[in-house]
Amino acid sequence: MHAIAKELNAQLEGTVVMDLLSDFGKRIYFPRGIISQSMEAKGKAYRLTATVGIAMKGTEPLYLPSIYRDFSGVSPSEVFPYASTAGDAKLRSVWKQEMIRKNPDLEGADISSPMVCSGLTHGICITGDMFLDPGDVILVPDMFWGNYRLIFEERRQAALTTFRFYTPEKDGMDIQALDDAIAKTPGPKAAVILNFPNNPSGYSPTEEEAEQLVQMLVSHAQKGKKLLVIMDDAYFGLFYEPGTYTQSLFAPLANIHENILAVKVDGATKEELVWGFRIGFLTFGCKGMTAPQYDALQKKAMGTLRSSISNSSRPAQSLLLKGLESKTYHQEKQAAFDLLKERYDKVKEILNAHRNDENLLPLPFNSGYFMSFACRGDAEKLRVYLLDAYGVGTIAIGSDYLRIAFSSVDLEQLEELYTLIYQAAGELWS
Ligand SMILES: Cc1ncc(COP(=O)(O)O)c(C=O)c1O
Repeated sequence: MHAIAKELNAQLEGTVVMDLLSDFGKRIYFPRGIISQSMEAKGKAYRLTATVGIAMKGTEPLYLPSIYRDFSGVSPSEVFPYASTAGDAKLRSVWKQEMIRKNPDLEGADISSPMVCSGLTHGICITGDMFLDPGDVILVPDMFWGNYRLIFEERRQAALTTFRFYTPEKDGMDIQALDDAIAKTPGPKAAVILNFPNNPSGYSPTEEEAEQLVQMLVSHAQKGKKLLVIMDDAYFGLFYEPGTYTQSLFAPLANIHENILAVKVDGATKEELVWGFRIGFLTFGCKGMTAPQYDALQKKAMGTLRSSISNSSRPAQSLLLKGLESKTYHQEKQAAFDLLKERYDKVKEILNAHRNDENLLPLPFNSGYFMSFACRGDAEKLRVYLLDAYGVGTIAIGSDYLRIAFSSVDLEQLEELYTLIYQAAGELWS
């Protein structure tokens, strides 16, 4: 093992992080090579800088006007050079302030500085690399984003194990199922990923369910289980109903127990409507961890990022930062929320009109981009039929569920969309 990795591990000794790190997580470190030598030179090299592998002309990067021409409001230095490994310092600080504003329970909490990564997928991947060895169990609700399978099962060779997401009555979240799944996880540690608002169901816990979830996790921690709890907050903020828990579960978990390492994976992708920017953030929280220990954990995350993509998109970070700092940002975000909420309300109205339909049972949803139907027949058959007979695209989740992204259909077209879906199901199954 490299000496720097040994140093980082020594710093983390005594924290739950050391119990949870994978073999890779233990070995990874952030080298004192080009990057840290360049960072050192930034502070001290007042005469000449010949460090990073980019081309300069005077004080600006050398660039092609044809490529710069269509940017506006950002200087060449904000577009062309590499971003630093952990991301733009100002952006990280603004994201953290916003995170605390949106999650008031984080006020005063000891958490790491959010590290920029290349979208949430990458943040989840980094977490998997750092904490899962082949064969390790990762608990995932049975309503889950399909890419978890590739990330955890194929890349990490972890044992992706599902627990029932909805209660059998389908009136809320089956917290007992997660409780049992954690209890059954072999060995001293357990890893779980929670995604609210959920893809594909569009469900987020109520305030009561959130409290029960936290208490349940803490009770396992108190019994000595070492818990890695990953929060995939991709659709954070899109909560449409009163009584829904409107913070990330990261907020109550970040500093609650020494045996719980909470990992928040969030990002600009859906929250700021910049799907193609590829900007996510990775933040850690654990009770009792000191600043040097967070720094050591961060260095490991930076090493993981450096060894995969080196650093994230610079122009995307610069544009995002300008947007977050714009005077009209909050107003624009509210307008986008209102537009999606209008679609949500319309979908609820349409579903209510079809409440006696026997082919499609809408699963509870209160947030996010999606809703799903439990299908009386084969969902894949319905998907293909809708596509071939009606030119309507939907997503089949296995053979049981059909997912509808109501977020991507204009309000005026929702009635037509759902009429065709009910009609097609009726033609297949009535
Ligand atoms: C639950 C969930 N997590 C993560 C992501 C990926 O986000 P990103 O595009 O930032 O990688 C998605 C995208 O569809 C998602 O639905």
